[in-house]
Formats: sequence, structure tokens, C-alpha cells
Amino acid sequence: MNIGLVYNVRHVKPDINNPQYVKEAEFDEPKTIAGMVKALESLGHRVYKVEANENAYLKLKKLSKKIDLVLNTSEGMYGADRESQIPAMLEMLQIPYTGPRPLGYSLGLNKSVAKEILSFYKIPTPKWMTVNQIFDLEKKPFKYFPAIAKPIGEGSSKGIKAENLVNNYSQLKKIVEKLLREFKQSVIIEEYLPGREFTVGILGEKVLPIIEVMFDKLPKNVPKFDHYEAKWVYDNPQAKYDALECPAKLTPQLKNKIANLALKSFQALGMADWARIDIRLNKKGEPSFIEVNCPPGIIPDPKENSRFPRSARVMGLDYASMIEEILKSACRRYKITYKSTRKKTEAEKELQKQKIQFEKQFKK
Ligand SMILES: Nc1ncnc2c1ncn2[C@@H]1O[C@H](COP(=O)(O)OP(=O)(O)O)[C@@H](O)[C@H]1O
Ligand SMILES: [Mg+2]
Repeated sequence: MNIGLVYNVRHVKPDINNPQYVKEAEFDEPKTIAGMVKALESLGHRVYKVEANENAYLKLKKLSKKIDLVLNTSEGMYGADRESQIPAMLEMLQIPYTGPRPLGYSLGLNKSVAKEILSFYKIPTPKWMTVNQIFDLEKKPFKYFPAIAKPIGEGSSKGIKAENLVNNYSQLKKIVEKLLREFKQSVIIEEYLPGREFTVGILGEKVLPIIEVMFDKLPKNVPKFDHYEAKWVYDNPQAKYDALECPAKLTPQLKNKIANLALKSFQALGMADWARIDIRLNKKGEPSFIEVNCPPGIIPDPKENSRFPRSARVMGLDYASMIEEILKSACRRYKITYKSTRKKTEAEKELQKQKIQFEKQFKK
């Protein structure tokens, strides 16, 4: 098939002290894009690369007759609804693409509106309030402590440091003021959930093996949640420490609860084909929705510990097969026939068997 790969790429070398790098934190490394191209080609597809910048629309317009389907991994460059810009262009050009419609991406990027929708469906999510200006907090002080404050529409733990976890109103006010100033967007305050943390990939209509994000290996004085330092400083190949456990050790009941929560949130927020959902346990041990990520990061090199591919591997899907599942899912929705020239190897057939067994087990 002719596959358009739409992506955002980092233009600077990794350095968390470089503001440009921080700005591009959600963008992919050039080697990730190369890995996606390689995977698509190994499936027998012809790949048309389009960087999701200001020139993307005209490039896509030129290619619109040629491309069968776009694999959309773009994060968007500017504005609160940046992730929905490429999908909106693709809608306009009538090019089929992977992932949700523009609305889904916008919801995924707005932690408050996402929670409003989930509340409508009675899907558990921590108590929260949205602060557009500091006056909102002064007028109606948040009462649930410990609490955590986050920029409303960022990802990759941007703006979420250890200090964002606070125990009282005066600490909270300080951090909220700082976030409003630094990020120039609303701030969401949430009741802090003290329990275990999970992240759950959904691929097609399936729940991938649940990942637990472990904090026990973090240094003693570092708070046990996935703040910027935990995600970027401690969890990297050089640090040689694996923060993820997959499949997570869970009782069948809890496993089902978490999987159902992930799937219901996926549906309620209009996700499609793939997404990764962050979940934490509250003090009673009940799972609660934190946020949805689409597109989730997919770094090809297993050493990088990228969450979605890690979970897919545990299910028996290598990188190319994982991408193939995303494409197939989109094709089913658009009623396009999926074509691939790749023949399955014996090893892959074996993995496929395991996958079917896993699904059976899951249904029980
Ligand atoms: N209400 C909460 N209770 C406990 N921890 C939280 C809460 N909200 C966020 N966190 C922690 O902060 C991390 C980052 O928050 P998240 O909303 O997922 O932002 P991002 O989009 O940057 O990943 C989470 O993975 C979790 O560890
Ligand atoms: Mg997250």
C-alpha cells in the first residue's frame, strides 16, 4: 500500500537543559522515524514521509491521490489543539488516517475536558478543579490533599516536577502560580492518588498486556510518581534501570478492572486504532483514570523502554507487526482492504498463537 507517514521530528540533540529540546520533548528522534519507515517497508508498503510542520498541508494535498492511508504520529506544533491539526487537514483532503478524529486528539490534550466526559460516563478519575487564573483558586480553594498540579495540555511530564506534589493550600497556590506563568495555559489540580501506577495500551479493539510503572528503584528522596526527572533522568538506557513491569503482577479481578477502565475511557474519549491510558490506584486500591495518550510514543529500539512497543512485544507483536495492527485497524474502520506482501515467519506464527491464547485468557 502507499502509506503516508506524518510525524514530528526533533531538530536538536537530546539535552533536557536545552529549551528547544524541551519544547520538542514529544517529538520523535530521527532514528524513531527511520525505524517506522523500515517497519512499513518490511511490510511491503511504499512510504511517503511528511513532516508535520507548516508545509504539511500542501505536501499532503499533492499526495492525496496517491496515498491509501496515513500513519499519523504527529504531535502538532502550536496551540492547545495542536494534535488535531493534521487529522483536520486529512479530513479536509479526504485521506484516511490512523487514530481518532480531530475531536479525540483535542480531548486527549485537554486533561480537564477529558475528565468531564469521563465523569458523565461515571468512569472513575481523581477529584479535580481547573484554574484559568489564580483568582479561581482563591475564590474556591481546593480541599483535597495531597494534591498535584499540572499544565492542562502538555505531555511527556512537561511541567510536572517533584515539587508539583503539595500538601497544603499555600504550597499549592505557589506551584499553580508558577505553572500559569510558565506555561501560559490553564492548570489542573487533582487529588493525588497514592497507589500503584499502570499504563495500558489499546491496539485495535484489544487491550495490550498491562504495564506497571515501578517507582521503588527511584532514589529514596525522590517522590514516587512519573515526574519529569523520573521519566527523563532516571528512566533511560544509560541508567540501566527498568522502571516497567509487563505484564504487571495483578490479581485477575484487578487486571479486569484496569483493562475495563482503559477500554471504556478509550471509547468515551473517541479514541481509535491505538492509544495508551495512564491509570493509578486510589487509597482504597481502586483504579482511576489519569490521562490518555494518542499517539503514544513508539521508539523501535527495545533498549529505550518505550511503553507501547514494550507491551506489544509482551503480547508477541514485534515492532512491524504492531504497526501493521494499527494500519489494519484503521483499514477496518474505513472499509479499505489491507494489503501486505510480507509473509509471516515461523516465529511470528508461533507468536500469533500466543496472542490468540492471551486473548482467550483475557475474555475469561
Ligand atoms: N492525580 C494524580 N495522582 C497521582 N499521580 C499523578 C496524578 N496525576 C498525575 N500523576 C503523576 O504524574 C505523571 C504525569 O502525569 P500525566 O497526567 O500522565 O501527564 P503527562 O501527559 O505529562 O504524562 C503520571 O504518570 C503520574 O505518575
Ligand atoms: Mg502520562
